[in-house]
Amino acid sequence: MSLAFLLPATSADASATLRTHASAKGKFIGAALATSPLSNETSYRNIAATEFSQVTAENAMKWDATEPNQGQFNFSGADAIVNFATQNNQQVHGHTLVWHNQTPGWVQSLGASAMRTAMQNHISQVVGRYANNATVVSWDVVNEIFNENGGWRSSFWYNTLGQSFVADAFRAARAADPNARLCINDYNVEGINAKSTAMYNLVSSLRQQGVPVDCVGFQGHLSIQYGFPNDLQQNLQRFADLGVQVRITELDIRMQTPRNATKDATQATYYRNVVNACLAVTACAGVTIWGFTDKHSWVPGTFPGEGAALIYDENYQPKPAYNAVHDALAGGTTDTTPPTTPGTPTSSNVTSNSAALTWTASTDSGGSGLAGYNIYREQGATDTLLGQSTTNSTTLTGLSSDTQYQVYVRARDGAGNLSANSPPATFTTLSGPGGGGPCTAAGTVQTQWSTGYVVQPVTVTNTGTSAITGWTVTFTLPAGHTLTGSWNADVTVSGQTVTAKNAGYNGNLAPNASTSFGFQVSRPNGNTQTPSGYTCA
Ligand code: XIL
Repeated sequence: MSLAFLLPATSADASATLRTHASAKGKFIGAALATSPLSNETSYRNIAATEFSQVTAENAMKWDATEPNQGQFNFSGADAIVNFATQNNQQVHGHTLVWHNQTPGWVQSLGASAMRTAMQNHISQVVGRYANNATVVSWDVVNEIFNENGGWRSSFWYNTLGQSFVADAFRAARAADPNARLCINDYNVEGINAKSTAMYNLVSSLRQQGVPVDCVGFQGHLSIQYGFPNDLQQNLQRFADLGVQVRITELDIRMQTPRNATKDATQATYYRNVVNACLAVTACAGVTIWGFTDKHSWVPGTFPGEGAALIYDENYQPKPAYNAVHDALAGGTTDTTPPTTPGTPTSSNVTSNSAALTWTASTDSGGSGLAGYNIYREQGATDTLLGQSTTNSTTLTGLSSDTQYQVYVRARDGAGNLSANSPPATFTTLSGPGGGGPCTAAGTVQTQWSTGYVVQPVTVTNTGTSAITGWTVTFTLPAGHTLTGSWNADVTVSGQTVTAKNAGYNGNLAPNASTSFGFQVSRPNGNTQTPSGYTCA
């Protein structure tokens, strides 16, 4: 055996992937992915899987893809992206919930009250779908709400609802997934200018009002012909000082085509500058490139005469820009020191499906900083990840009733180093479905037509004498009827039996209190039946 075999490969290896170097710095390096090449091209899949630690759906999570018709949700593209990311140990940033583009006409023509309800329902359904999925960690809640002069964009959102839609959207997203990081995102805000200052003032004022804005996204659609925003780092830092995370969300650096070596070199410098600015700001989580290969880029179709904006060429060969990103991420030292071991978790507020945990915090001395905690369930050979938290407490949800859980915690640092396991804690969830009833449910047919109907509200009432923390309503669809949409409940269908469990935000009911959900069904033409006999437990 040669000596070379005994030398450990370090993560600072010059030939290592972008994600290896980024992780060692406690940052993500991401790419926007499109569903079609992801399913059709091996080279696309291989690079996407190996080079990047973070993924954004280029189009698959936008409103026109996820809710083309009111109440009819389609997650096929979104799920394909999320599943790919899960398989490759990548995190997904959800893009985007409320935007003036790629939103169907039916939304744009609603009146104020209906538009607000549709927005809240859309957010609740789309964010709610991935709320318990550890891969999806953050969302662009609102996108591109400002004009270049710092005024509000006169979109149908603003024109119908005024400024209030922004706070309402963030609150709905927080309700749908209390653990997701919620971002506001825009372009031409990389430098300090009228537009970025308007965003700064809004984020500051929303946070003072308690609106849950956690993060600011700087798209980073740059062009070498307009110069580099040299105050990028300073701008990121002023937002960071408001207490928010910052990130570069849609980086591409276009040039007038055709490429040549000089333009490639300038482009590489711009890429390096962006990565270095993020590395220099502790609160910058990472950089997402808007695609990665010039073969699939929105630039030539959007900016006539410009292109070649990404880090791989059209044949999947790395360009100078790739090396610039690689070398910037690889510079400096590598954190290989794990955080200290967290304390024994203590459980409280145990219900039939949830439990709160708190533990003594860890510290990290390796340089990348404490990033958060993973909570695992001990299960013989393989332990399962029950949840993640950025603080030293969490509420586990989605637990099974009447079940003993033995759990432990590991701390994570920014470079991905995991601490040793904390000592375990054991608790047993309460018995009874969804928090213990008794309750009743009654549905009202709101509207019907020859081939379908909407039942709204299905009113769920706590008829007991103590508070409940969850409910499950079941009912049977007549033969031939198919559920096409639902809101304000987590709904599953098995044969003709529909099971609707409370959503994250409407499970708690005091005695005599009510909440409601709704659903839409299609049925054979001429059939006039609707469901009856709702049971609640
Ligand atoms: C673009 C996609 O790249 C294109 O495929 C699509 O046709 C239009 O949208 N700002 C954003 C992104 O927030 O969603 C946009 O993505 C680019 C500008």
